[in-house]
Amino acid sequence: MIITVASFKGGVGKTTSAIHLAAFLQTDGDTLLIDADPNRSASSWASRGMLPFAVVDTWQPPRRHQYQHVVIDTQARPVPEDLKILADSCHLLVLPTTPDTLSLEALVLTLEYLTAIGAKRYRVLLTITPPKPSREAEKVRSMLTEAGMPLFSADIRRLAAFQKAAQAGVPVYGTKDPRAEEGWKDYQSVGQELLAF
Ligand SMILES: Nc1ncnc2c1ncn2[C@@H]1O[C@H](COP(=O)(O)OP(=O)(O)O)[C@@H](O)[C@H]1O
Ligand SMILES: [Mg+2]
Repeated sequence: MIITVASFKGGVGKTTSAIHLAAFLQTDGDTLLIDADPNRSASSWASRGMLPFAVVDTWQPPRRHQYQHVVIDTQARPVPEDLKILADSCHLLVLPTTPDTLSLEALVLTLEYLTAIGAKRYRVLLTITPPKPSREAEKVRSMLTEAGMPLFSADIRRLAAFQKAAQAGVPVYGTKDPRAEEGWKDYQSVGQELLAF
């Protein structure tokens, strides 16, 4: 299955999601992560440590047929034409969104565009959600649900373990953070939804 992670805004957890969804899919079959962001964030994550799947940047030919799953990490602010190509060339477009106004505004733009081009295979992933007693994530979830937007049922919580994982160049379960397991569970839930898609 080919999964593309995209958004019109930076810092919403695209690269973190691409890395962890690839780590999850690797448990199902050989997975390739294509780093299509000129900032090369996923490639530098890989170069700092050890990831359980292959990572290439776009300049190398993607030997896709060798892989059961391909995850594509993209740059923020794709031009609309790029978004069309991305949407057309994958099984599912994953749209990470943090529960804050700027991120939601960017999401609305993205969704308007996806509707305009007739894209149907996409799903919003709420990321970096603040811990209780904040009700932000809950509020945003019900708002988006009411607006008829397709959402993953699991959120990705805001956990320091994800930053540690990026620094160490490993998936979150490879860190010593006491909440690493919780972070990995969040992405495992999303990954299971992906496989069921
Ligand atoms: N669930 C999370 N909890 C805490 N920090 C996170 C989480 N996901 C991402 N981050 C941090 O937020 C920043 C942006 O994440 P990143 O995945 O690079 O986003 P993008 O690729 O959309 O720019 C990074 O510093 C990353 O470590
Ligand atoms: Mg990124």
